[in-house]
Amino acid sequence: MDSATTIVIFGASGDLTSHKLIPALYENFVKKRLPPRTQILGISRTPMSDEAFRKRLLSSSSEVLGKENVASSWSEFAPSVHYYAADVSKEASYPLIEQAVRELEGSNPSRRIYYLALAPELYLHTIEYLGKAGMARPDGGWRRIIIEKPFGRDLTSTRVLNQKLHAVFDESQVYRIDHYLGKETIQNLLVLRFANTIFEPVWNRNFIEHVQITVAEAGGIGSRAGYYETAGVLRDVFQNHLLQLLTLIAMEIPSRFEANTLRDEKVKVLDAVRLPKSDDVEQYSVLGQYQGYHSESGVAPDSRTPTFAALRLNIDNWRWQDVPFYLRSGKAMAAKMSEAVIQFRCPPHMIFDVPRGETLHCNQLVVTVQPDEGIHLTFMTKVPDAGMKLHESNLYFHYRDSYEKIPVLDSYERLLLDAIKGDASLFIRQDEIERAWQIIDPVIEGWSARTASSLLPQYPRGSWGPAEADALLKQEGRSWVNGASLHHDR
Ligand code: BG6
Repeated sequence: MDSATTIVIFGASGDLTSHKLIPALYENFVKKRLPPRTQILGISRTPMSDEAFRKRLLSSSSEVLGKENVASSWSEFAPSVHYYAADVSKEASYPLIEQAVRELEGSNPSRRIYYLALAPELYLHTIEYLGKAGMARPDGGWRRIIIEKPFGRDLTSTRVLNQKLHAVFDESQVYRIDHYLGKETIQNLLVLRFANTIFEPVWNRNFIEHVQITVAEAGGIGSRAGYYETAGVLRDVFQNHLLQLLTLIAMEIPSRFEANTLRDEKVKVLDAVRLPKSDDVEQYSVLGQYQGYHSESGVAPDSRTPTFAALRLNIDNWRWQDVPFYLRSGKAMAAKMSEAVIQFRCPPHMIFDVPRGETLHCNQLVVTVQPDEGIHLTFMTKVPDAGMKLHESNLYFHYRDSYEKIPVLDSYERLLLDAIKGDASLFIRQDEIERAWQIIDPVIEGWSARTASSLLPQYPRGSWGPAEADALLKQEGRSWVNGASLHHDR
């Protein structure tokens, strides 16, 4: 008989479980991608029967996936979902949890994933107690642990967490998740670069003038003030999502598409990122706060938590020397949109007249991660019947046009399946996460000293951030590309 696979979710009553993990597992179940005899056990403090837990999940999964999509197979999926009430902050709970898992597994050797969908302050204890209860030891079948972000809040706390983790789990058992890596277009960046020959010869300082990466969100912080006030935009998305995008754009070509070779190259890029200095943060970065942030529920009236940041990084290696990478992200911006703009150099000598008042548009490659996943390349064309008049034209690729019948997957669907298969390519390794903190820490440190005595620049809701962010690029002779994919003609 096949071994059982059990996914034990710590933090089962939370939003992540109901709105991300369970819908993703359900979709995998419907597509018959889960191993036979997969069971899901939710753990949290609230007393609840299996039935009540399933009912909650049916309602949240219907919200996420649509009622009609869930109706079809929920009755087949639901019996594999179970619940056990336990206080994970207490060591005594773990032998009981172990017993509950064993009852589900029966006498066969089983494989297990522990998913920490918990408040991060519970990570250390949960890991330690899993170890003490012997639950991390492979017992005829593997044991893996998936850990949600935030993984640490600076380099020091991340090192402590990694040490504690390694006292219990081997690195090969650890899957640190960054849901951005599960996005199709992010993986498509690797395909674009490494499955085509035309980009590689120009993918360097000789042809690329600068790179911009934007993760813009239209919404504010909503009901997440409790978390957001302790994080701010640099911890929330720069240390992880934006730096991950940077590594995929800037890394060298790995010899194989395999977890460690891929991650070796990503770490090399992070190692080459020039470490920012905290004493001159205003030279290369800007913070901001959206107007009205102080009136959000749970936000302190004098809060200095940044909801926007823009940052220039430099990569000290042969490929990227002197090519700035500008990273920008904010809440309450003009649109929800994540994209990377590769700005190519202008022709070294222009033989055509550019009419007065117009500027030459030099080639751009735009990779849109969301919402309209795709790639477009701009280039100059001649306007017909108008002498030598030039016009910027586009080549487009859009997922929704090219793969109409295949919907773009939710990241968790892909990442959960990868963890079950044991493929860690799209998960973050220990050295990678530590280096990412090492890059972001000095920026946070530099600004916290400065913002102690002054408020952050404000920006109107629905804008592209504070004027200071425009000035950051302007002083270097550049400007932000605001949603290249949002307003081009098709
Ligand atoms: C999360 C952050 O990691 O990413 C959120 O905590 C942010 O603050 C979210 O809204 C953005 O993810 P996505 O997939 O909506 O771009």
